[in-house]
Amino acid sequence: MHFPGLLSLQALWVALSHAMQHYPSVWGHYDVCKSQIYSDEGITWDYMACQPEATDMTKYLKVKLDPPGITCGDPPETYCALENPYMCNNECDANTPELAHPPELMFDFEGRNPTTFWQSSSWKKYPKPLLVNITLSWNKTVELTDDILITFESGRPEQMVLEKSLDYGRSWQPYQFYATDCLDAFTMEPKTVHDLTQHTLLDIICTEEYSRGYVWKYDKTVRFEIKDRFALFAGPRLHNMASLYGQLDTTKNLRDFFTITDLRIKLLRPATGATMVDEDNLSRYFYAISDIKIQGRCKCNLHANTCVFDGGKLSCECEHNTTGPDCGRCKKTYQGRAWSVGSYLPIPKGTANICIPNNPGPVNCECFGHSNRCSYIELLNTVICVSCKHNTRGQHCQLCRLGYYRNTSADLDDENVCIDCKCNPFGSDNVRCNGTGFCECKKGTTGPKCDECLPGHLWHNGCQPRVCDNELLRCQNGGVCHNHQRCQCPVSYTGILCEKQKCENGGCDDSNSGQGALSPSNCPVLLLLLLLLTALLQGISCHPTL
Ligand SMILES: *[C@@H]1O[C@H](CO)[C@@H](O)[C@H](O)[C@H]1NC(C)=O
Ligand SMILES: *[C@@H]1O[C@H](CO)[C@@H](O)[C@H](O)[C@H]1NC(C)=O
Ligand SMILES: *[C@@H]1O[C@H](CO)[C@@H](O)[C@H](O)[C@H]1NC(C)=O
Ligand SMILES: *[C@@H]1O[C@H](CO)[C@@H](O)[C@H](O)[C@H]1NC(C)=O
Ligand SMILES: *[C@@H]1O[C@H](CO)[C@@H](O)[C@H](O)[C@H]1NC(C)=O
Ligand SMILES: *[C@@H]1O[C@H](CO)[C@@H](O)[C@H](O)[C@H]1NC(C)=O
Repeated sequence: MHFPGLLSLQALWVALSHAMQHYPSVWGHYDVCKSQIYSDEGITWDYMACQPEATDMTKYLKVKLDPPGITCGDPPETYCALENPYMCNNECDANTPELAHPPELMFDFEGRNPTTFWQSSSWKKYPKPLLVNITLSWNKTVELTDDILITFESGRPEQMVLEKSLDYGRSWQPYQFYATDCLDAFTMEPKTVHDLTQHTLLDIICTEEYSRGYVWKYDKTVRFEIKDRFALFAGPRLHNMASLYGQLDTTKNLRDFFTITDLRIKLLRPATGATMVDEDNLSRYFYAISDIKIQGRCKCNLHANTCVFDGGKLSCECEHNTTGPDCGRCKKTYQGRAWSVGSYLPIPKGTANICIPNNPGPVNCECFGHSNRCSYIELLNTVICVSCKHNTRGQHCQLCRLGYYRNTSADLDDENVCIDCKCNPFGSDNVRCNGTGFCECKKGTTGPKCDECLPGHLWHNGCQPRVCDNELLRCQNGGVCHNHQRCQCPVSYTGILCEKQKCENGGCDDSNSGQGALSPSNCPVLLLLLLLLTALLQGISCHPTL
């Protein structure tokens, strides 16, 4: 008995366990760059797209505050937070470790009570705005993998902007605006991340969700929602990461959206807790941040699964014979083809797009992919491609063979760059055609491929001039036009259109000259005579044998 269902299940299990050997950890995580495979040719490597694990990126950043002297405590001052009992009548003194609030405290371990925090000096110069820029730099491209969370101990600012740079701080773009009143602060309609769709995901929004410090006094965090944005492609619980990866693979803008080298938190107006600022007690207004959470991974262009922090600098440990801080180019001797980023597709293993060794030869052997062999011609001191394929020819296989023409909308390295001229062998003079595929036609023939006839011509293994028809070129004297090519004449007529009598009164053709004197009516008599003569001659010659 056969159990096809059972058999295929078994086959599936074999295939699965085979796959598990190659991908030891959960698939779709791209955490393996290569694995050994055992084949008929022995042990070889199988290369895969790979990326480092996501991790806490705050351990690797440099922080810079603007203006530089904005941290409280120099000179010492007392302050009193609006709603926080731990923060009233406290003193900030930069020179006393227990009373100092330096920027590092934004990134230290939280979980103690009271928490440790960075704090700015208070709003003594009101109504001049209290502005602080906090710039976080990695000197490395980083891909964000989770929400950015900023925890304020002083009430969340009434206005702030989160900005990003992708070019090490040379240029900046806003990531998100935050305000108690978006229209008033930034003349933007208030939105939330839930207003975004797959099509508007890259829109920069202003949100009022994270600014109302004293309405929601226990909520101290300002969030930049990465996961909600991922969810637009990967589904609510990010269960379909394959879909997100597929999208990231094909949409550079999307990939870049989540990629940063620097972040900047622009604090524009502290929490006041009221519409009016208490001008007599400005020590109530300041910024204090206890924690910043940033999860991400080194961007290694899917060519590394490890990123090292060495000498204060992050860099990818590049595989696939790539190099550079982001594995962004091929090693010097592995430039046999152009570098390219690894691909998440096909799911789940992706494509490594490894760099391959340089072509051998005194100079680069460039054949647009139509040959992988070159030959050095000493006499000309030059290298030419050998055996160009795909109907190409020339030093770099950059021309089309005779009988083919160049498809100008295809790239030179396209396998189908040369198109067959397809000249009709009967209608054209040769196999050659011009740059738009027009062949060279014989007389009477036309059309791009020389397979049509000019007026007055007929196709018969090429175009032949029309001899007769039933109109102007009518066969004469009862002749019948045969295929427009010839007149079938009655016995006594000849000529292209049967226009000539075979034996006219005035004189006949040379071949009939012997009977010139005879009228056509006499011909049967002559024939009879001839037959008689033949019979007689035959009778004489045959006698002896009788
Ligand atoms: C903060 O950065 C902005 C550029 O985005 C700059 O114009 C501004 O002067 C900076 N503010 C401070 C206080 O340095
Ligand atoms: C950033 O990294 C590069 C090397 O990739 C190094 O030359 C440069 O000095 C670093 N810049 C900073 C500010 O650390
Ligand atoms: C400032 O405000 C705090 C708390 O609201 C209060 O305890 C303090 O007395 C005020 N100081 C002045 C000078 O008004
Ligand atoms: C680089 O290329 C060499 C030669 O093809 C190969 O042996 C080696 O495994 C490659 N390295 C990586 C990391 O792919
Ligand atoms: C020429 O190449 C383009 C691009 O590859 C292709 O779309 C087109 O069909 C080709 N034309 C012909 C006639 O083969
Ligand atoms: C090819 O020949 C045709 C017909 O003579 C002409 O219309 C066309 O412009 C020619 N193309 C080129 C590239 O010379």
